[in-house]
Amino acid sequence: MITFENITKKYNRKTVIDDFSLNIEAGQLVVFIGPSGCGKTTLLKMINRLIHPSSGKIFVDGKDISKIDPIELRRNIGYVIQNTGLFPHMSIKENLELIPKLKGEDPEAIEKKTVELLELVGLNPEEYMHRFPKELSGGQQQRVGVARAFSTNSDIILMDEPFSALDPVTRSSLQEELFNMQKELNKTIIFVTHDMDEAYKIADKICLLKDGNILQYDTPENILKNPASEFVESFIGKRRVWNNPEVLKAADIMISNPVKVTPKRNVLQAIEIMKENKVDSLMVTDRQSTLLGLVTLKNIKLQERTSLIDDVMEQNVFAVSEDDNLIEVLKIMNEHKIGYLPVVNSGNKLTGLITRSSILSALSSQLLDLEVAF
Ligand SMILES: Nc1ncnc2c1ncn2[C@@H]1O[C@H](COP(=O)(O)OP(=O)(O)OP(=O)(O)O)[C@@H](O)[C@H]1O
Ligand SMILES: [Mg+2]
Repeated sequence: MITFENITKKYNRKTVIDDFSLNIEAGQLVVFIGPSGCGKTTLLKMINRLIHPSSGKIFVDGKDISKIDPIELRRNIGYVIQNTGLFPHMSIKENLELIPKLKGEDPEAIEKKTVELLELVGLNPEEYMHRFPKELSGGQQQRVGVARAFSTNSDIILMDEPFSALDPVTRSSLQEELFNMQKELNKTIIFVTHDMDEAYKIADKICLLKDGNILQYDTPENILKNPASEFVESFIGKRRVWNNPEVLKAADIMISNPVKVTPKRNVLQAIEIMKENKVDSLMVTDRQSTLLGLVTLKNIKLQERTSLIDDVMEQNVFAVSEDDNLIEVLKIMNEHKIGYLPVVNSGNKLTGLITRSSILSALSSQLLDLEVAF
C-alpha cells in the first residue's frame, strides 16, 4: 500500500533519514515512534509530498508518488497536524466539507457524513457544526481535526501527534474512537506519537525510529516480547514500567555493591563494619562471594561480642535472581516480612541487595527517566 524504498533525506550535509525502507500494508494502523528529531514528521510529510526525499522512492498503491500531481495526491490523503490546521475563518461544518466539496461529492451525502463524523468523534453536531474553531477548546479542535482527516474518503490518513495536547481522559477516549473508526472504515493510518502507551493501545504495527533508522518494525506484542536491541528494551522498559511493573528486574532495583562480611569475623567486627559503611545489615559470603547468610544489627547487637558470625548469622535467607521482576520481589518481601533481599546469580554468588529504599530510589529514577527520555 505505502512503500518507502531506500529513502534518504539530507538537509545541507546532514543526513536525517538514512536509506529508509518500509512497507505498510493496506488497512493497517502503523505507529511511528522515537525520540524528538529522529525524522518522524519528515517521513510523514514525504508521503503527501510536502517534503521531497534526497534520494529513493515512495510508492502508494504501487504508483511512484513523484509522478502524481501533489495537489491531487494530497486530496486523497487525510492529514492531521498537531495544531489541527483548521481554517479559522470557516465554521466547523465548512472545514469538514471543504475537501469533499472540492472533489465534487454529492452535497447530500456530504452533509450526512459531516453529522456522522462529528458524532463519531464525540461532538454534538447541532451544537458544534456552526461554530468557528476559536469557539472550541483545544481538545475539541483536535477532534474536528481527526474528523476532517476521515472526511476526505481517502484510504490513507497521516496523523502527526494528533492527541498530544489533550488531557489523559479525552486522549484515551479519542484513542478508543480512532481504533474503532479504523477497524470500521478500514483506513491505512500512519500515526506519530511520543507515547509508547498510546502506541500499544492503537497500533497494528509499531515502527521504532532513532536517528532516521528503523530499530524495529513489528507488532506491539512482538516488540514487548522480543525487543531487537538494548535500546528498544530500555525504551519500552522505561516507558512501560508504570503499567507493566514486571519489566523492572531485580538487577534494575538492587544495590550492586552490598557490604559483605566473611563468616570468620566476630560480632564486634561486624558491628564496626556496619558503622563504617552506615548500613544496618551485612551479607555473609565466602571469599568467592557465595552467599552463606545475613546478619542485621538488630539481631546481633545482643550477642556476645566475640561470637563468630558463622554461629549467629541467619542461614535460611531468601534470595532472588537478577531476572526476577519487581512483582516477585515485592511478593517475597511482603509475604516473609523481610526488608533485605539478596540477589544471586546462577552460581549462588551474591551480585546485589534489594532493600525498600533501593526499590524506592529505582522507581523514582524511572520517573525521572520518563521525563527526560524525550
Ligand atoms: N527544514 C529543515 N532544515 C534543516 N533541518 C531540518 C529541517 N526540517 C527538519 N530538520 C531536521 O531533521 C531532523 C528530523 O526532523 P523531524 O521534524 O522529522 O523530527 P521528528 O521525529 O518529527 O521530531 P519531533 O518528535 O520533535 O516532532 C531533525 O534533526 C530536524 O532538526
Ligand atoms: Mg515531528
